[in-house]
Amino acid sequence: MSLRILRKASQTQNAKQLSSSFSKFTRSFSQLSSQSKPPSFGIAFDIDGVVLRSEAPIGGSPQVLRRLYDDSGNLSIPYVFLTNGGGFTESKRALELSELLGVKISPLQVLQGHTPFKQLVNRFENELIVAVGKGEPAAVMSEYGFKNVLSIDDYASCFENIDPLAPYKKWTTKQVKEVAARDLVSSQRVQAAFIVSDSVDWSRDIQVLCDIFRTGGLPGREIGHQPHLYFAHDDLAYQAAFPTERFGMGAFRIALESIFNRIHPHALEYTTFGKPNPFVFKNAELVLKQLVSALHDNLQVANNQANAGSYQFKTLYMIGDNPSVDINGARQAGHPWFSILTRTGVFKGKENHAEFPADLVVDTVEEAVDFVLRKECIS
Ligand code: G3P
Ligand code: MG
Repeated sequence: MSLRILRKASQTQNAKQLSSSFSKFTRSFSQLSSQSKPPSFGIAFDIDGVVLRSEAPIGGSPQVLRRLYDDSGNLSIPYVFLTNGGGFTESKRALELSELLGVKISPLQVLQGHTPFKQLVNRFENELIVAVGKGEPAAVMSEYGFKNVLSIDDYASCFENIDPLAPYKKWTTKQVKEVAARDLVSSQRVQAAFIVSDSVDWSRDIQVLCDIFRTGGLPGREIGHQPHLYFAHDDLAYQAAFPTERFGMGAFRIALESIFNRIHPHALEYTTFGKPNPFVFKNAELVLKQLVSALHDNLQVANNQANAGSYQFKTLYMIGDNPSVDINGARQAGHPWFSILTRTGVFKGKENHAEFPADLVVDTVEEAVDFVLRKECIS
């Protein structure tokens, strides 16, 4: 499926959502810095491997972020987090980031891998869909407006013996007890599966997803047409707390696809979102423009889509740790993106990356922001 079609179909809805979110944003940042000139630049921070490793801040990130606020703690330089990670709603993630990093972060500043899934609400609003991944994948999808969503934990628990390895697993998952839910999944076809965040139980999830895909959404029944499948991103690996990278959603996709293609005559069909898709960077640019409107002018201007749309940045800085994802994405997005690669995550090389060279390579996010503020004559 073409992402271009998705983008077009969602433009109006997106504009409405952004407008209402910005009203909330400007209210929550009640005393916005009033600057005489709007900043001609903005910053997009990757999270894993740049500002955090698991839950631990790295590279001086708390001090760095504080420099983007004025003395009263109001945002003065427009920035967003542009992460492929996820599993929680943007509002919950914003709260968690605010606590970990010690600054006031709005949900609007949190762009996660699964954030674009909201563009598909019109298509699947009332259809049965399954949400996969760590955290609260079903809550994420419900908040986006999907009305008939089950987490894969709940869905799988409606089918007795669907996972033959379950008795050997040392953890327990909630069992759906309601007969209604069991009846629903045995009669209603799953229309789409959304991989919201990293799968926690690859063996069970691959088994259940293959059951869904080869039967047209009714596990245990006859072969049917494959329901839709969407991945929040396709990261092969990412930087967590362990010194070397861990397998990400892209690795899970490869495992699922390899197995499905061995058991089914037609190859698995799917769509991946997240960085490095250029539309993710376009959306980040739009959100940053809205932030500039909110920072520079009053509420009326912040709500004026046309006004924000006509504003042009001279430079947008993408600070990331993954050359094939963050740097590749910024390079594909082109002007006004300027890519900065840190050595605190996936990339650990001395020189620039050979295949996806960044505009600048630094050790830490602190060094990156020093450079940005110097270049923009702020420090
Ligand atoms: O699962 C998280 C990961 O794949 C990437 O997160 O913040 O580096 O884009 P981030
Ligand atoms: Mg990263």
